[in-house]
Amino acid sequence: MKILCLFTFLQSFLCIQIQLSKFKVLKSIDAFKLSNYDNVQYYGPIQIGTPNQQLSVIFDTGSPYLWVPSDKCSILQCHYSKRFQTSKSSTYKNFSKSDEVEYASGNCKGFWGSDYVQLLSDGNTRVEAKILFIYQDSGFSELQSDGLLGLSNDKEIDNIFDLAYKKGSIKSNLFAMELKNTNEQSLFYYDEIPNEIMDNVEWVRILRKDYWTVKVLNIYVNEHPIKTGNLKEALIDSGTSLLYLPENVVYKVFEELILKDCRFLESYVFCPCQIPRDKVEDYPKIKVFLEGIILELDINDYMMRDIIYYGLCFIGIQIETQMDLMIFGDIVMRKYVIVFDKENNKIGFKGVEKLNNIKTISFLWVEIIGFGAIIISCIILQMKITKL
Ligand SMILES: *[C@@H]1O[C@H](CO)[C@@H](O)[C@H](O)[C@H]1NC(C)=O
Repeated sequence: MKILCLFTFLQSFLCIQIQLSKFKVLKSIDAFKLSNYDNVQYYGPIQIGTPNQQLSVIFDTGSPYLWVPSDKCSILQCHYSKRFQTSKSSTYKNFSKSDEVEYASGNCKGFWGSDYVQLLSDGNTRVEAKILFIYQDSGFSELQSDGLLGLSNDKEIDNIFDLAYKKGSIKSNLFAMELKNTNEQSLFYYDEIPNEIMDNVEWVRILRKDYWTVKVLNIYVNEHPIKTGNLKEALIDSGTSLLYLPENVVYKVFEELILKDCRFLESYVFCPCQIPRDKVEDYPKIKVFLEGIILELDINDYMMRDIIYYGLCFIGIQIETQMDLMIFGDIVMRKYVIVFDKENNKIGFKGVEKLNNIKTISFLWVEIIGFGAIIISCIILQMKITKL
């Protein structure tokens, strides 16, 4: 989870425009609604304990644990939020084992315990889950939710959907996220994923048994391949707001943006907020080649319209420095509906371009022919030189 650091270091000089979002429900599909805070945090309501206490949690595919602040956390020790009243729940258990969890944006300390948890108003998801009850946290002052629901690919740690599936109360442990811009409703699907999504996804293999990471074969900026150094893997992380890419790729994108009408301000790049539709093609297009598919991002995808500075909008691309992994945060997730399949270790992207084999083979032939041509011209040149 890397959302909050953005705010803590940007808030000092950025005018963050909070737009009152009017949620419009566009679909009648039965899905769980997520709240969206300025396109940087996606969270939803859960109920914990007996009787139920309602708290909100970030739905975070980038980490494994469920945590909420407990009543043991004083105003000064935890971020401003609702707290779970342990003494008011008859099913709360305290394992008396303390732990500390670190995130890119902050950390929290708590005692492991368990209690019944469910998504708001869905008793089928009600399971007894392991929860870290927090007594101290730091770095989370901008967190809009109370706690966090970890949904990583960790096979050792069951999330609430794994538990409900094992219990037999839901039909699968698949889940899907449809993250939207602030003017539209963001959705979380589980139990039964609509066919409209399942029939239209392209699946990609997950490399690890703990995190949702995919292999990155190549990155192109405006049709030019860019060297990615030792970064060859990307984390699909709903708990990270921005897009974290290798240095060379970021420099190339920034360079192209500055050649247009964008500006460097306080070492971040800002561009005019309104890009006419016919001008979008003039701005850098990032193509990420994964195994079998291509992700494509243009200025409308990577510009953050809720973060405005001197009338310009923030470009949500950063250099990856901390994790040795590219991070495909909400910027990428807003572009595609993504299905997470823990059992089969794969994720599906809806509406993505397929990387067809013919194209790859023809690329290979172009390379072979090109290489051959160079060798032949070298031989000819050599012959000419020896003739001279
Ligand atoms: C749980 O147990 C520990 C140690 O036994 C205690 O310090 C803590 O206050 C208890 N309750 C909570 C909510 O953490």
